[in-house]
Amino acid sequence: MEYDFRKKNIMGKNVVLIGTQWGDEGKGKIVDLLTRNVSGVVRFQGGHNAGHTLVVEGKKRVLHLIPSGILHEAVTCMIGNGVVLSLPDLFSEISEIQDSGVSISGRLFVSPNCALILPYHVELDKARERKLGKQKIGTTGRGIGPAYEDKISRRALLVRDLFDEPSFLERLELNLDYHNFVLEKYLECPPVSYGAAVDSTLPYRDKLEPMIKDIGRELSERRNRGESAIFEGAQGALLDIDHGTYPFVTSSNTNVGAISSGCGIGPRSLDYFLGITKAYTTRVGEGPFPTELFDAEGKHLAVAGNEFGSTTGRPRRCGWLDAHALKEVAQLNSLSGLCITKLDVLDGLEKILVCVDYKKSLNGNTEPVYDELPGWEGSVSGAKSMDDLPAEARNYLERIENLCGIKIDIVSTGPDRENTIILHNVFS
Ligand code: IMP
Repeated sequence: MEYDFRKKNIMGKNVVLIGTQWGDEGKGKIVDLLTRNVSGVVRFQGGHNAGHTLVVEGKKRVLHLIPSGILHEAVTCMIGNGVVLSLPDLFSEISEIQDSGVSISGRLFVSPNCALILPYHVELDKARERKLGKQKIGTTGRGIGPAYEDKISRRALLVRDLFDEPSFLERLELNLDYHNFVLEKYLECPPVSYGAAVDSTLPYRDKLEPMIKDIGRELSERRNRGESAIFEGAQGALLDIDHGTYPFVTSSNTNVGAISSGCGIGPRSLDYFLGITKAYTTRVGEGPFPTELFDAEGKHLAVAGNEFGSTTGRPRRCGWLDAHALKEVAQLNSLSGLCITKLDVLDGLEKILVCVDYKKSLNGNTEPVYDELPGWEGSVSGAKSMDDLPAEARNYLERIENLCGIKIDIVSTGPDRENTIILHNVFS
């Protein structure tokens, strides 16, 4: 398509949704909610370690790899080159969606440059965690880290490599030799068979072929035609390989800096950066968590918020909102606005703490400095407007805005699409 520089073309709007904590902020629901404004939803990093929960008309669905816009039949979903792809998991998710009556035909595209996750990546991930013992990272065991390592080492097999079968098989054998050496000799576990590795790749090639597309080009063409898109982040800002709580992080860049490289578009094509923030904090896996609660209040948040990992089922650690970290994340991601999720989980608490700073204790540990705010009586569950909220809940939201210097655009007050307060249209 030719671009006419003399004409004032009306560009589509590209809106980015980023989790500002350690993942599980409730991005899935918000992507699904905002999808009515767009023609495309894109993933640009991570893999099927993500777990995006959607509740539509009371029915719960968890997506791991396919962008959360898939339930809207008029929308195209795209998986950019920055995503690491397990073909068996992609196709089992496709089957699940199709079995529930949603057609994906002609509306799911995958970049030819996605690196493949193979069975040896999964075995390496699990065996390394076992070997690390108490020092384990607490990964999802999906092979994400080892797959990204292969990509950086320039030995990864990419989606496009499936189409040169002799060379694909030759490289697969070499990779298998290399990884089996580590599995057997260093990690002391059984090797992965050539057959298992082949079975997880080539049989999917023909089904995958019609989905393969240059995602960067597709995105620019759509924008030039005036169509809008959502860029759906996975995990959260504090799990970023460079800016997170290293080494207790995931293996990709989860912040907005990853979007250009992860789907092939320039940074000036991104228009709005919405940070998705849970009204409190959770973390799955190991690593620092300054505002973690180990008492009855923490347990209350876990139960009220149903805080169990949607990918691994592990209980999530819970704590107060860390506005100190959020402020840094807002700056790192040039956030335009915030979406506060799960406000209803704080219902019934006598007081709500919010971390405003860190101080070093004498033993060198980081300790949070808290502001204490009054909780509210009654429930905010299902509220659709600010007027439906008690003054204390509005006060809490205002405090978050002031601490981070970012305005709140959306507040989520329950799992369903309808349980939402929209203060500002991020597409306007
Ligand atoms: P990995 O991404 O499986 O390598 O796991 C590394 C860390 O990221 C672990 O602490 C995981 O629990 C965490 N993690 C990965 N994906 C998610 C997610 O979608 N939500 C929350 N935590 C995640």
